[in-house]
Amino acid sequence: MEVIKDILSARTATNSIRQANKSIGLVPTMGALHKGHLSLIRASKRENNITIVSIFVNPIQFNNPEDLKNYPSNYESDLTVLEEIGCDIVFAPSTEEMYPLAPTIKLSFGELENIMEGAFRPGHFSGVALVVMKLFNILQPSHAYFGQKDIQQYKVIEKMVSDTSLAVDIKMMPIIREKSGLALSSRNSRLSIHGKRVAPQIFKTLLLVEDKIIRGESVKDSIIAAEEQFSQYPEIKVEYLTLVNLKDLQVEESSNESNQLVLCFAGYIDGVRLIDNLIIKK
Ligand code: PAJ
Repeated sequence: MEVIKDILSARTATNSIRQANKSIGLVPTMGALHKGHLSLIRASKRENNITIVSIFVNPIQFNNPEDLKNYPSNYESDLTVLEEIGCDIVFAPSTEEMYPLAPTIKLSFGELENIMEGAFRPGHFSGVALVVMKLFNILQPSHAYFGQKDIQQYKVIEKMVSDTSLAVDIKMMPIIREKSGLALSSRNSRLSIHGKRVAPQIFKTLLLVEDKIIRGESVKDSIIAAEEQFSQYPEIKVEYLTLVNLKDLQVEESSNESNQLVLCFAGYIDGVRLIDNLIIKK
């Protein structure tokens, strides 16, 4: 496994891979790898000749400086895990390498960023889209893999690729969970023992809403039931619980539509921000 830290070497390496007619799969990450990341890497390995994993904690996507400061880092053990899984190249640039000048370009996504993560994390998606665009420009992968865990991020990247005609085929992979139902996240390592014990209630509540909607209860009543359930766990500070359609993530007031629906959650436990979502089976 090759570890590359500068853009020029990354361009040279990927140029020769493309010249040899080999496909490149990219898995962008911010490190502190867990089984969710590994599932994306396995998908890339199945579908490409060469898999590149990027590790870069992108400062411009953090709207909260404390969150950036506390973001977990496990660089050495990440490299061991990547070597074991058979990753071909790790791209791990420094902040100076990625942003020699403070970037001024802003990317906006209209309605897609007025709700949920976009509403609660101003500037976040501009920062995500810019770094992913830079990674695509530097590495020029044929495929790139993202998790449904960050479903709004996936939709933003899909729109960025479409708006800019980038030649990358992007894929959204399912959410990997602990046995308890808790969605794996690098941030889970910052939960207290007690926090970790209550966190599975998030997924349990999403399942409760799904069950109610499938049984024909109104969206409003199903969400009220979820709020009641959450109120039994004061440790969980809900930021939003929103039902949207899968196509463009706009809010759905009723579940009668033939559209596929997604129930999205964000909230805090122990001051750690957690998100989760569930595509409602109909
Ligand atoms: P990060 O949070 O490290 O996540 C990297 C990728 O792993 C994302 O596509 C995310 O959706 C996916 N992922 C996280 N938890 C997952 C889980 N439990 N199951 C499946 N996939 C999961 O998302 C980012 O980094 C950054 O915003 C990035 C795209 C790298 C841009 O900086």
